[in-house]
Amino acid sequence: GVMGEIMGISDLEVKLRDKLGINYVVISKNVNGTEDMIAEGVAKCAAKYILKNLGPHDKVAIAGGTTMRRIAENLVKDKDNEEGFEDVILMPTRGSVGSEIEIQANSIAALAAKNLGAGVEFLYVPDELDGSARETLMSIPDVRRTLDHLRVSDKVVFSIGRADMMARRRGMSEEDIKALTDKGAIGEAFGYYFDKNGEIVMKLNTVGIDIEMYKNAKDAIVVFAGSEKVESFLALYKLNKNLTLIVDEESAKEILNRI
Ligand code: F6P
Repeated sequence: GVMGEIMGISDLEVKLRDKLGINYVVISKNVNGTEDMIAEGVAKCAAKYILKNLGPHDKVAIAGGTTMRRIAENLVKDKDNEEGFEDVILMPTRGSVGSEIEIQANSIAALAAKNLGAGVEFLYVPDELDGSARETLMSIPDVRRTLDHLRVSDKVVFSIGRADMMARRRGMSEEDIKALTDKGAIGEAFGYYFDKNGEIVMKLNTVGIDIEMYKNAKDAIVVFAGSEKVESFLALYKLNKNLTLIVDEESAKEILNRI
């Protein structure tokens, strides 16, 4: 729209932050690129934001997915960044063993830790578990320690997905996907499927971060590229306004047009 054309990125960032009522917004400028280039631009902005704001003793939870993978790849300290991150701890937001290895939260946390020279803790727990198996795994000392640290995380870095797409990625049957969307699910983040008001309609029986831990994080950072996720974001941000948004320019303008 006209507004977007006359506003610079930084004006747009401030305006979007104020209208959403969240902490901070970073917009990655679209350079008429492919979807891939736009996703890479957003990931670079996110990596830069994290490097700039990372405290020497921070506990950082990072989610799974292709967006987080790209961020982890870009978390490389530059030469004049003398800050030591050896006391920083990276953790996956949840157990994700069973999904594609490259985009499992555990592998992404490991890659981010390696790039930063930081420590890492894991949640080697399958994605979906019931009852007693879940209780047993949650009592393993290493898993408990990670969960304790997730409860006091300084940063939670995550993306969002469309409910139907995430359900499909996780191998849900078409019938169950329909049941899920019939309940109003439009978005997904850390195993929670929510409707347009940010109400949770279904959750995975996973081990990891829950809504309380998410709300308690000192700095929650949601990162996404591509306007097909705008709808999910508009639902998600209502859950917790203690939030930083890192997004591409086109999606940023679309959000602004819709609030
Ligand atoms: O499955 C992990 C997860 O972080 C989801 O919670 C989220 O919806 C999705 O990945 C995002 O995936 P991508 O970055 O590939 O779009």
